[in-house]
Amino acid sequence: MKRALIVHASRHGGTAGIAERIGEVLRSEGLDTTVVPAARMPDPSGFDACLVGAGVYMGSWVKDGVDYLERYALSLAGRPVWLFSSGPLRGSTKETDGAQLDPIENALGPSEGPGSGGRRKVEILAATIKVRGHGVFYGAHDPSDPPKTIAERFVRLMPGSKGILPAGDFRDWPAVEAWARGIATALREPVAVG
Ligand SMILES: Cc1cc2nc3c(=O)[nH]c(=O)nc-3n(C[C@H](O)[C@H](O)[C@H](O)COP(=O)(O)O)c2cc1C
Repeated sequence: MKRALIVHASRHGGTAGIAERIGEVLRSEGLDTTVVPAARMPDPSGFDACLVGAGVYMGSWVKDGVDYLERYALSLAGRPVWLFSSGPLRGSTKETDGAQLDPIENALGPSEGPGSGGRRKVEILAATIKVRGHGVFYGAHDPSDPPKTIAERFVRLMPGSKGILPAGDFRDWPAVEAWARGIATALREPVAVG
């Protein structure tokens, strides 16, 4: 049985829930699957595939996720890897303001120029590791859950933050499950040798 490792960096639990659901799908597709927080830095060697996901805050992945990719870049480059970001909140002003529909841009911001630092960090590591794909899924925001960082507290207090941060659980389970099933299918395909 092939072994899959799912690693998640989650501040408020939204991404952890997505990771667990991906894990359930991979198990139902016959993969021996382990789901672990990135902070525990699980060693990917010994796994046939690795999925790494993080919540997005102000255009950057939760730090544990970036730290994980950095720490294990070499080992990850030797096996199939997929990334996932849990970010946009459905109906945020950022979404409705214009035709910016590229999911990565919607979550992590532009690829160049001001505000691109967080995205570039992830993309440089993704290129080094040669990731097979990067899924972006709607996230969740519960304003009654206390902020976990000073920056988060500050953003929540900003005038207009309710437009950027609509409250609710927008996680799109059918989209998450379909993405996971696609990975299971890819992992069933024979690996070309030579
Ligand atoms: C202060 C704050 C800033 C956020 N910034 C972004 C952002 O830049 N891009 C994005 O797509 N989502 C952003 N979000 C939405 C979160 O990514 C979303 O709530 C996600 O589900 C959080 O994952 P977690 O619960 O695993 O921490 C932000 C949320 C908060 C509270």
